[in-house]
Amino acid sequence: MSDFDARELRNAFGSFMTGVTIVTAVSKTGEKVGFTANSFTSVSMDPPLLLVCPAKRLSSYDIFESCDHFAVSVLAEDQQHASNTFAGSKDDRFAQVEWSADAFGTPLITGAVAHFSCSSFQKIEAGDHLMLMGKVEQFSSNEKFGLGYAKGGYFSLGMEHKAEEISHEQCAQVGALLECNGKLLLAKTDKGYSLPQSKMQADVSSLQTLKNMLISLGVAAEVGQVFSVYEKSITGNFVAFYRAESTEEKEMDGYEYVAIDALTELNFASSDITSMVTRFVHEKNNGVFRLYVGNELEGDIR
Ligand SMILES: Cc1cc2nc3c(=O)[nH]c(=O)nc-3n(C[C@H](O)[C@H](O)[C@H](O)COP(=O)(O)O)c2cc1C
Repeated sequence: MSDFDARELRNAFGSFMTGVTIVTAVSKTGEKVGFTANSFTSVSMDPPLLLVCPAKRLSSYDIFESCDHFAVSVLAEDQQHASNTFAGSKDDRFAQVEWSADAFGTPLITGAVAHFSCSSFQKIEAGDHLMLMGKVEQFSSNEKFGLGYAKGGYFSLGMEHKAEEISHEQCAQVGALLECNGKLLLAKTDKGYSLPQSKMQADVSSLQTLKNMLISLGVAAEVGQVFSVYEKSITGNFVAFYRAESTEEKEMDGYEYVAIDALTELNFASSDITSMVTRFVHEKNNGVFRLYVGNELEGDIR
């Protein structure tokens, strides 16, 4: 074992964004096995080769190490449940998803973006993993968006695109969850606290509108990812909120910096702001921020 801190190395490896696959095989006695893997790589076009790396600690390791065939299903953006099932469930994993057998009898996960049925081409032991190279015997793919994975969390390109499309074309209002030294910048209104926001400026993107708003407040901030894009039921207009960060607490009339720990005790001007701030606090504590796209009552979170 090298001197590296294992967690730091895992985090560094995990900063590489990947898709998510489920790798499956059938044992000589007919037992179906499968595990979630993001170690998938395409290797060669001629012959058509791909690679996945099962860990030696997998309960199914011996089966993958000795298999003649295996299959890879590249998961679609709505298949987080299948990914979690094949990463953790101790019950029969195949009873929890839909699947069908390929020409070699190996399970393919239904609803995936792509399927590859492989014969084992080469197996190389590499430290605590096996490099399992397969020759693609059959494959299929479709137009869906794949499920993404980075820094220990899922993401979805479809959602990102949708959020970007709405925030560029249909947004009427744009706002910020602006963090500064463990506090969040809130706007004070007659009805309660709210978030700093502004009407969309003509011929300017939502991002630029937000940056202009922050400049006009005199706040030097770094604007980050979209946090929430949703439709206001009363107006039918969309609002986009971005996360932003600054290091300097600037005093402004009508605004207040409130410690993130104290946010959930406050009275907010509307229920959409309450639920956004509540989610922000929760995700801040968990260290993983997600994206919400929907309306005030329901939507998708990735
Ligand atoms: C997104 C994601 C990617 C993963 N990639 C791999 C991988 O490439 N190789 C691997 O051995 N385990 C990987 N794992 C962990 C395995 O899926 C997990 O350890 C396995 O399903 C445990 O199976 P077992 O209980 O049968 O041992 C990954 C897990 C997740 C959530």
